[in-house]
Amino acid sequence: MNASEVRQKYLDFMKSKGHVQVAPAPLVLENDPTTLFTGSGMQPLLPYLLGKPHKDGTRLTDSQPCLRLQDIEDVGDPRHTTVFEMLGNWSLGDYFKEEQIRNFFTFLTKEVGLDPTKIYVTCFIGNEKYGIPRDDEAAHIWQTVFKEVGIDAKIAEINTAENGDKRGIRDGERIFFYNDKENWWSRGGGIESTPIGDPCGPDSEVFYDFGEDKQDIDKYGQSHPASDGARFMEIGNQVFMQYRRKEDGTFEELEHKNVDFGAGLERITAASMDSYDVFQISLLKPIVDRIVELSGKKYEDYTSEMRIIADHLRGAYLLTAQGLRPSNKQQGYALRRLIRRAILKALNLGIEDNFLAGVLPMIAENYKDLPDSILTNRDEVLDVLSKEEQAFRHTIRRGMKELNRLKEQGLTGKELFMLQDTYGFPLELSVEEAKRQEIRLSEDWQKEFDAALAEQRERSKTASKGMFKGGLEDHGEMSTKYHTATHLLLAALQQLIDPSICQKGSNITAERMRLDFNVDHKLEKDELQKLEDQVNAWIKADLPVVHDEYDKAYARDTLKAHGSFWDKYPDKLTVYTIGDFDSPTSREVCGGPHVEHTGVLGHFKITKEEASSAGVRRIKAILE
Ligand code: ALA
Repeated sequence: MNASEVRQKYLDFMKSKGHVQVAPAPLVLENDPTTLFTGSGMQPLLPYLLGKPHKDGTRLTDSQPCLRLQDIEDVGDPRHTTVFEMLGNWSLGDYFKEEQIRNFFTFLTKEVGLDPTKIYVTCFIGNEKYGIPRDDEAAHIWQTVFKEVGIDAKIAEINTAENGDKRGIRDGERIFFYNDKENWWSRGGGIESTPIGDPCGPDSEVFYDFGEDKQDIDKYGQSHPASDGARFMEIGNQVFMQYRRKEDGTFEELEHKNVDFGAGLERITAASMDSYDVFQISLLKPIVDRIVELSGKKYEDYTSEMRIIADHLRGAYLLTAQGLRPSNKQQGYALRRLIRRAILKALNLGIEDNFLAGVLPMIAENYKDLPDSILTNRDEVLDVLSKEEQAFRHTIRRGMKELNRLKEQGLTGKELFMLQDTYGFPLELSVEEAKRQEIRLSEDWQKEFDAALAEQRERSKTASKGMFKGGLEDHGEMSTKYHTATHLLLAALQQLIDPSICQKGSNITAERMRLDFNVDHKLEKDELQKLEDQVNAWIKADLPVVHDEYDKAYARDTLKAHGSFWDKYPDKLTVYTIGDFDSPTSREVCGGPHVEHTGVLGHFKITKEEASSAGVRRIKAILE
């Protein structure tokens, strides 16, 4: 069965059990400051799980795209992905354990057709400190439903996953009790990490058994449902959400007992194919195949890299198609990180250029059934991400050059910081690259890096004291934007007013930019309007901004960079290019710093045009 079929079967099945299908929420939740991304199907439903009536009643179902960035380091194994779809159903004070367990078991065995002898389950062992009883009720319901299909399911007490790794499974055991590390669910994790005010409760997880030959005892110990080996994979979790954590840290019973059920669509689909590798299912395999094709390498030889690329690009596609843009903050930064990591892994496979253009159409095809109301910006994905790729490849080339120059001597945290700060080469990539090339890292590199970062923060704090007049952005960031806006304005002047216009002076603060330039007349209102429109059009086009070091003659004669002081420049200089490298929108000699994309500049507005000196006019402008 492919993933679309499993999704549809699940939703139809839940509807046949009286559930109303609700629309999934976007991956970036607008009104939830607690997390960056929607990480489970229950998240958008929090108020209803806490008692608010839902307009569609007490039985709801959906398929919710989720992103769990905390799993990023695990991606590469057969089952972890950052992005996945969670099949969910909820009882808001309606049915409870019995109906939930029966429904899910029926769905798995009758609708998906899984062999019931391959299903194992876990329940909560209880917690004395908080007076939460052992969930014998759920365990007995499980025994009953197994018995109805002729399976005598024995109950085992394991307590913790570590104990299980030593103990393993004994004859006929199928239902396992574990402590809150495994069988308590809240958005924060185990019982002690439950956030104040959040709904939570004991859970019962369901596992699929891929067979004894998949256990790797040397590495993971004896197999049992919650062990890390490849034999068992969790395919669904039923949370009996009947508590809320109080301000004093204890738990109170909710007025209504809810069920919060979630299952990984990808994992159930993989189980339906008896494949322990989720990257073999319809939503992921075509991406992997495409990567195999582009790289000319085999999946067996580069399994982990290919899985990471497939996962991260799928995530990047969904985020961008939902309107998120790469940036240096929060969700936008997470998106940037996914793309960059994928590009770097692709580089390891020898894929150089036009990588995203080669893979994204495949991913778009997988999601063509998702409605436009969810993927609001799908037409823009290729363009946005290709620009990001172009800018990042440039960064990589420069960072790699620098890293290779430094590698003989080994790297300390100080150099790692310099690579990130000056070359935009992110720390994690330096560390990965160092591992790959076996470059020696100093023992305390992390500490040294943190110290260099703290020192730089201190410096910029001191520098911005007195200049910072509120607003969200610090001085450094705002003046960087004005730097780039100044280049765009000069380019607009040359293009629309007179190609011989040169910069005669410039001054930038965190509040505004000022540009002096030679021109033979006072600029009229309509000319200023045209300039403003042109700069805003370039901002809107989100052009990449790249820079590199060149010999002076090459910069002047071949690249035709704009510069006002050629006699004074040193022999080696930095040139910033905005837009297409071969026919740039702007190209200037400049020390920087600049933003990486014009899209982050906001709206450009000219506030004043005046005389500066004879034959020189002055424009002041702001970004808002
Ligand atoms: N909210 C539960 C989970 O994420 C179903 O596992």
